[in-house]
Amino acid sequence: MESKKITIAIDGFSSTGKSTIAKELAKKLGYVYVDTGAMYRAVTYFAMINDYVSTESLNEEGLVKELANIKLKFVFNPEAGFSEMYLNGENIEKQIRGLEVSQLVSKVAAITDVRKVLVSQQQEMGKDKGVVMDGRDIGTVVFPDAELKLFMTASPDKRAKRRYKELLDKGENVKYEDVLKNVQTRDHIDTTRSDSPLKQAKDAIEFDNSDMGLKEQFERVYNITQRTIGEA
Ligand code: DC
Repeated sequence: MESKKITIAIDGFSSTGKSTIAKELAKKLGYVYVDTGAMYRAVTYFAMINDYVSTESLNEEGLVKELANIKLKFVFNPEAGFSEMYLNGENIEKQIRGLEVSQLVSKVAAITDVRKVLVSQQQEMGKDKGVVMDGRDIGTVVFPDAELKLFMTASPDKRAKRRYKELLDKGENVKYEDVLKNVQTRDHIDTTRSDSPLKQAKDAIEFDNSDMGLKEQFERVYNITQRTIGEA
């Protein structure tokens, strides 16, 4: 008998390795993986290149008026083994991962109209279950009825070190202090914004992975998932 498909919500702070775990889990279960952070990053990239946002300014009204012209799509890249983000037909995967977008994304993600549009697209993507979705508000807002909710945390220092290494590996010229500052600033904005702030859902399982390797983490998450699917 085919096992029942469930909805898996993975929330938590930035650079906690959420997406690595979520991606691997989706692959092993044959589920769809949705990286909701990539969607907020894509809207931010659009806002950035069209001068709606910069470190000094934010033209919220202008950006909101343009929302209908922002078409987002995930396209699976078989060579990379994961889906890449397309904005109005253009692959912007590389652009949305840089420090520039990272520094502006929390501002854009705090706009209620941006959240409304993206949340509704996410709900549509997950309506048939069999989905692993990672973000900040998946267990609290997007899918409050998800059968399995995980909340990932790790110390800011550990997360900044991981992120710093990732950026260096990608050839970005960054300073550790700037990456740490970015992690701390984003934590602050993400947890204190008035619309859908990052917080642990009451029924979420917390995972502090400051001192846990990926393999151990994945095994634990996978065991919990199997148990939850068995009980669904
Ligand atoms: O997961 P990430 O670092 O790629 O997310 C980028 C930003 O988008 C993050 O600072 C917070 C925001 N975000 C959000 O507000 N809600 C989500 N569901 C996902 C991301």
